[in-house]
Amino acid sequence: MRPLWVVLGGLCVALAHPAATARGDRALVVVSFDGFRPDYLGRGLTPVLDGLRAEGSRAAYMHNVFPTKTFPNHHSIATGLYPESHGVLGNSVYDVARDRRIGYGPQLYSNPGVTPIWTLNQMAGGGRHSGVMMWPGGEFSYNGVLPTFRQPYDLQVGWESRVDTVVGWLVHPSTPANLVMLYFEEPDRRAHAFGPDSPEVRYHIQKLDNITRYLRQKLAAHNLMDRVNVVQLSDHGMEAVTLARIINITDFVSTSQFKMIDTSPVIQLFPVKACNPSALVDVCRLTEVIRRRTQEWSSCGVLLWKKLEYFEKTHKPATFTTIFPHQNIRPWGYRQSN
Ligand SMILES: *[C@@H]1O[C@H](CO)[C@@H](O)[C@H](O)[C@H]1NC(C)=O
Ligand SMILES: *[C@@H]1O[C@H](CO)[C@@H](O)[C@H](O)[C@H]1NC(C)=O
Ligand SMILES: [Zn+2]
Repeated sequence: MRPLWVVLGGLCVALAHPAATARGDRALVVVSFDGFRPDYLGRGLTPVLDGLRAEGSRAAYMHNVFPTKTFPNHHSIATGLYPESHGVLGNSVYDVARDRRIGYGPQLYSNPGVTPIWTLNQMAGGGRHSGVMMWPGGEFSYNGVLPTFRQPYDLQVGWESRVDTVVGWLVHPSTPANLVMLYFEEPDRRAHAFGPDSPEVRYHIQKLDNITRYLRQKLAAHNLMDRVNVVQLSDHGMEAVTLARIINITDFVSTSQFKMIDTSPVIQLFPVKACNPSALVDVCRLTEVIRRRTQEWSSCGVLLWKKLEYFEKTHKPATFTTIFPHQNIRPWGYRQSN
């Protein structure tokens, strides 16, 4: 039997066959290429991925969650929950109660009752072991459980070495992994610096196509093709911006009056405790400028939400504890102190 290779959201999925279970049985490898826009596949740069589509299967699209940020989307993929439910609301959030920014770390990910798939896999027992290669949030414990194999984010670890390591997890003599999450930071990283249409991104799309070939070769060399399913996906796309379409927030809002948390595509503004009332007028002015420019740039989506509006306009989570209990939603950018 050949593995079924499945491409999602423009990428592929190779499903060897039904779900992976205990050791010696089938395994699943989920590969994420950060910020891989679906149309990167149509640029004639990806012969390997294109070939996999023919022998595997491909989803027409994958709908990312909002915000289109790496940590919220990867955690939605890992948990099946929207950001307001899994709590990873941005790459950074603001803890109002303790007046502190929370960046990448266990606190960003510690939300009771939220358990990623690699942890659930291990908790299911029966010899199931998970391996997490740099997947955001993968090196922290949930319910007191750590994945048997894990490599925290470290750009010094080369791509082929990541593949070698995860294949080693799959064939581990005593505790082989039946679930592996494998992360690559490109083409997101270069696209942020150079734009999605740059030669740098072109090069990295090709490099990712090559690492896909390498992964296949390694699986084949270890006789894993019949028992490993591969799902390849991405967390979000990428859009080019031009200087002419930038609204410089610092022209309108004083950085001494507001905390600015996270950025691109969503910046969270929090008035400082001793905020000067006139600073709030500045925000109204900014709102007005955004409204006007958004009309001028008819195709461009710059939006300003008050903190509760955002989730009301998109979707309401089934239940949530918040600092506004009567609202039953967690307002944008807010975290409870633990
Ligand atoms: C991808 O692999 C091909 C074939 O081995 C090679 O010619 C090319 O230089 C590689 N590209 C990158 C960006 O690694
Ligand atoms: C935005 O404004 C700040 C302060 O006015 C300035 O330092 C910065 O260079 C500006 N950024 C851009 C992209 O124009
Ligand atoms: Zn990303």
